[in-house]
Amino acid sequence: MKVTLSVIKADIGGFPGHVSVHPDLMKKAEEKLKEARQSGLIIDFKILAAGDDLELIMTHTKGTDNEEIHKLAWDTFLAATEVAKELKLYGAGQDLLTDTFSGNVKGMGPGVAEIEMEERPSEPVLVFMADKCSPAAWNLPLFRIFADPFNTSGLVIDPKMTDGFKFEIHDIKENKRVFLKTPEDTYTILALIGNTSRYVIKSVESATLGITAAVASTQRLSLIAGKYVGKDDPVLIVRAQNGLPSVGEITEAFAFPHLVEGWMRGSHNGPLMPVSFKDARPLRFDGPPRVICAGFQLANGTLHGPVDMFDDPAFDLTRQKASEIAEYMRRHGIFEPHRLPAEEMEYTRLPQVLKKLEGIFEDID
Ligand code: F6R
Ligand code: MG
Ligand code: MG
Repeated sequence: MKVTLSVIKADIGGFPGHVSVHPDLMKKAEEKLKEARQSGLIIDFKILAAGDDLELIMTHTKGTDNEEIHKLAWDTFLAATEVAKELKLYGAGQDLLTDTFSGNVKGMGPGVAEIEMEERPSEPVLVFMADKCSPAAWNLPLFRIFADPFNTSGLVIDPKMTDGFKFEIHDIKENKRVFLKTPEDTYTILALIGNTSRYVIKSVESATLGITAAVASTQRLSLIAGKYVGKDDPVLIVRAQNGLPSVGEITEAFAFPHLVEGWMRGSHNGPLMPVSFKDARPLRFDGPPRVICAGFQLANGTLHGPVDMFDDPAFDLTRQKASEIAEYMRRHGIFEPHRLPAEEMEYTRLPQVLKKLEGIFEDID
């Protein structure tokens, strides 16, 4: 039996402002997905929140990009949006960019990461969910996990990993993709993915096992909507162990709080702080950007878990470092590089402000 793990998320109203998901929205989503489990449409589900993003984690046998599953997610977001409107939550329905569902939630606002898999004899899976950052936030940790032996000892020690991994990289501006393989294409991969405003790792496959090891969401809301409509706040699924990086090699990549774009008004760079589920509430300057990780064992589609993977004092130093970096970046105020470079600000509201100046600029001789 092939099982599909679908993680579909949307910000459909914040509490207060853009901080968290109101418990009533979680309850409504729970109710909808329980019905779907009872009817047999899905095998199992878990609902989580990362900042103001409602995260639906579902298993089923219908494959990726399945219309019924995407419609279930869409209808769940719509039902929860109704609750958000009643409570007058902030930005109710903000990520639902169209009125009518047209077969697939991609391009409609919600973020999606899905893997269809033949379950291995044991199937450990990690789901990462971030708030206040863009999809390229996963580029650096995914490279570390699957290509950097200083992070992942298995790349050197495990014979099932020494042949490397195949990376699918998307150019989100030109809507193109390329497949490159480690270790031979390592430098080319870095030449692309270091440009985080344009290139995003979509998936990673094991060269030896021929199975998908990781899938990320790559939707860019602003590119879909043509204007700033909130940050993308991506999700990522990573399978672990037995020829793939271990659970600990995967979480280790988040021990360095690297800079990501998306803090305050989607317009600032800040450190990505790994936190427990309860701390996934960006309370300082709408940030700093956060990431949570839910650990599961899959058993015939049943989701055993989640284990709250960053709820560990071993990540305290990372959080401390992230707070120091946050403080340092904040002292720059509206100056780059805390503020994003001009090209990245084109979808924010800044162009409206600058428009006023058009008539008063003069030529310099
Ligand atoms: C939203 C976000 C927030 C908002 C900010 C301004 O994802 O990151 O920082 O951009 O709170 O929100 P508005 O413009 O809705 O008042
Ligand atoms: Mg929001
Ligand atoms: Mg968010």
